[in-house]
Amino acid sequence: MQFEKLDFEYTDDVTVINREQFDVHMRLYEGYINKMNEIDALLMNNPGLKEANATYSKFRGIKRGETYALDGVILHEFYFENIGSPNNTPDADIRQLLSKDYGSFEEWQEHFVATAKASRGWVVLCYDPRSDRFRNISLDAHDYGNIAMSIPLLVLDMYEHAYFLQYADNKVEYIERFMDNIDWQVVKDRMQILQ
Ligand SMILES: [Fe+2]
Repeated sequence: MQFEKLDFEYTDDVTVINREQFDVHMRLYEGYINKMNEIDALLMNNPGLKEANATYSKFRGIKRGETYALDGVILHEFYFENIGSPNNTPDADIRQLLSKDYGSFEEWQEHFVATAKASRGWVVLCYDPRSDRFRNISLDAHDYGNIAMSIPLLVLDMYEHAYFLQYADNKVEYIERFMDNIDWQVVKDRMQILQ
């Protein structure tokens, strides 16, 4: 399968990031798409299986790149998809589901924001089927910190490249702007898989 960039259009009613910040970010996302195609081609064609070695080997490099680039693709697509226009609010179903594990929707929100401040890469609200609960998790890299089997429901990019051009070091404003512009319908659609 060839990876292809999904077509995310910038619109002026999306107020989390401006066009310049959006365009830069899209180029990074495209870079992961291209790397995945390169990696998959390498895996099909002489990846150096016999020389595989955990200290250094060509094959190790490919395997490290494989999860990094693929999670980079997936998480960016989830992130761009769940950014909406202002004044979106979660409906009663979502509020109730998140209240189950966090006490109230507001407490979930407080946890999510704190997780964003504590993260060097990504914040993901996911459902962890093993413990049957929602968890806000912090990923310091695309493929560092994920819970096996967990289902991502809401994704926020906290790498500096996601906000620094527009917000400089004011990450709190970026997080607040994101929280006010979540497309809750997208989150709800993702939750359908839980039923
Ligand atoms: Fe990013």
